[in-house]
Amino acid sequence: MRPILGIKFAPDQSVEQLGLSGVLVLDAPPNGPAGKAGLQSTKCDAYGWLIVGDIITSVNGTKVANGSDLYHILDQCKVGETVTMEVLRGDKKEKIVVVLEPKLDETR
Ligand SMILES: *[C@@H]1O[C@H](CO)[C@@H](O)[C@H](O)[C@H]1NC(C)=O
Ligand SMILES: *[C@@H]1O[C@H](CO)[C@@H](O)[C@H](O)[C@H]1NC(C)=O
Repeated sequence: MRPILGIKFAPDQSVEQLGLSGVLVLDAPPNGPAGKAGLQSTKCDAYGWLIVGDIITSVNGTKVANGSDLYHILDQCKVGETVTMEVLRGDKKEKIVVVLEPKLDETR
């Protein structure tokens, strides 16, 4: 069974447009593995401004530059395994520990 983080992420170009490298989290539902671990999704504030979510830059020490890097790493992981992700949150770096869960729907 395929493990998932339970996220939806932005197209690679949108991260490039920010001048960054990594995977921008659009949505991390609170009941999914990444959401439970506290990964922040992209939101709009009350005025309609976009609040950029976490950008995943590495998983267990392996650099993540784009969505295909992330898929590639996840393909080598197993359900129930724990991974430590480095994310960029604003201009801070955070470490997030996620327990991978089996794929139940189309999120990843
Ligand atoms: C993703 O980034 C890797 C480097 O980490 C690069 O080799 C690969 O070509 C990139 N893939 C895409 C689809 O841009
Ligand atoms: C990630 O690192 C943790 C701690 O070292 C390890 O338990 C886990 O198996 C690793 N996961 C993968 C997919 O390599």
